[in-house]
Amino acid sequence: MSQDNQKPVRVGLLGIGTVGGGTFTVLKRNQEEIRRRAGRGISIDMVADLNVARAKELVGDAVEVVSDARQVIANPNIDVVVELIGGYGIAKTLVLEAIAAGKHVVTANKALLAVHGTEIFAAAREKGVMVAFEAAVAGGIPIIKSLREGLTANQIQWVAGIINGTTNFILSEMRDKGLDFDVVLKEAQRLGYAEADPTFDIEGIDAAHKATLLSAIAYGIPVQFDKAYVEGITKLSAVDIKYAEQLGYRIKLLGIAKRQAAGIELRTHPTLVPQRRLIANVEGAMNAVMVQGDAVGTTMYYGKGAGSEPTASAVVADLVDIARLTDAPAASYVPPLAFQHDSMSTLPILPIEEVVTSFYVRLRVADQTGVLAKITGILAEQGISIDAVIQREADEVSGENGNQTDLILLTHDTKEGRMNKAIAAMQALPTVLAPIVRLRKEELA
Ligand code: HSE
Repeated sequence: MSQDNQKPVRVGLLGIGTVGGGTFTVLKRNQEEIRRRAGRGISIDMVADLNVARAKELVGDAVEVVSDARQVIANPNIDVVVELIGGYGIAKTLVLEAIAAGKHVVTANKALLAVHGTEIFAAAREKGVMVAFEAAVAGGIPIIKSLREGLTANQIQWVAGIINGTTNFILSEMRDKGLDFDVVLKEAQRLGYAEADPTFDIEGIDAAHKATLLSAIAYGIPVQFDKAYVEGITKLSAVDIKYAEQLGYRIKLLGIAKRQAAGIELRTHPTLVPQRRLIANVEGAMNAVMVQGDAVGTTMYYGKGAGSEPTASAVVADLVDIARLTDAPAASYVPPLAFQHDSMSTLPILPIEEVVTSFYVRLRVADQTGVLAKITGILAEQGISIDAVIQREADEVSGENGNQTDLILLTHDTKEGRMNKAIAAMQALPTVLAPIVRLRKEELA
């Protein structure tokens, strides 16, 4: 039976910047389609924003605009609070207050959930309200819904995603133009692709927040950002992108969650990916997530990971989910982390030394007899098998320093701890002339 005659779900927005503005526009433009899907209308009745005048200009007179978010939370007529403030500070307080007031919450705030998700989800369960966060990971791509609902038949073997558009844009430009990181970052900032303070993006923190959420949903483990391994792209040089290409690989910043018998790998770092994989060809600011399940095999989800309407698409989808369920008993809500709260796994997040992967290793060495033999000997001592080796001629890499050369090795899978030992031993060789570059490689087969 249609619920068409039911009263609309009334929404209060906390913050009406880029995503809030998109949410307002999409809800207005597509209200008829959305109502048909949700079985009731969804109406933004109240907005809190420090810039009241600009907010009023955006939403017009029909919507109440206030500067104090707590007025929205205190309004008994508001059913759902949409938090679009960001960060771990006031956003956390307001989300917990909204839950305590019995409101459902929609948020795009990955930082907040990756760090404080356990507390927030517990509060929501206690209160019998939903916390929905599709927009927190990969913007408009419905990856949370896919993992949480579409793939529930599967044991998830791994999830690997390009989940930060800023860094993917920078890496694409570095490869296309052969430029170094610093140069491209400045250009990206000038064009508005990177923020004035890009730390969260370029240091891998934003991607790691999202990977943390994906790991929790894929494996039913608590969010544990503090245990995630995080490495950004700031130290990546154009020469490694070029050598990787010559070996048939592209370098992407991947957020990875992978199941091992002893625990879960949760890591974000620049990664060599075979050029022939679809994900290696995701360019510019686009996002893509691959999920490998035991039943479904490999799947991939692609789209815009940021921006006004793409992110609004995810926020509105969450509002529709809430509209459909708001009169249902709380026991019928989809659990926020896909698994029932009393069936969560205690599998630990593995320390990075326990992670198993293959490696790209570049060594600047003296071009002398026996250097390669010493290096391969050290790798053999650690039980590390070599997959490929290339050597670049001295004049290609060192101009006047014709007695130096770059050795580039690809290894087969090994534990990171073993590779650390091998790198320490290789670095100590007098014929190794510069800090060794080590990058992880994933075949994603
Ligand atoms: N700053 C993010 C990115 C978008 O560059 O993908 C919001 O998560």
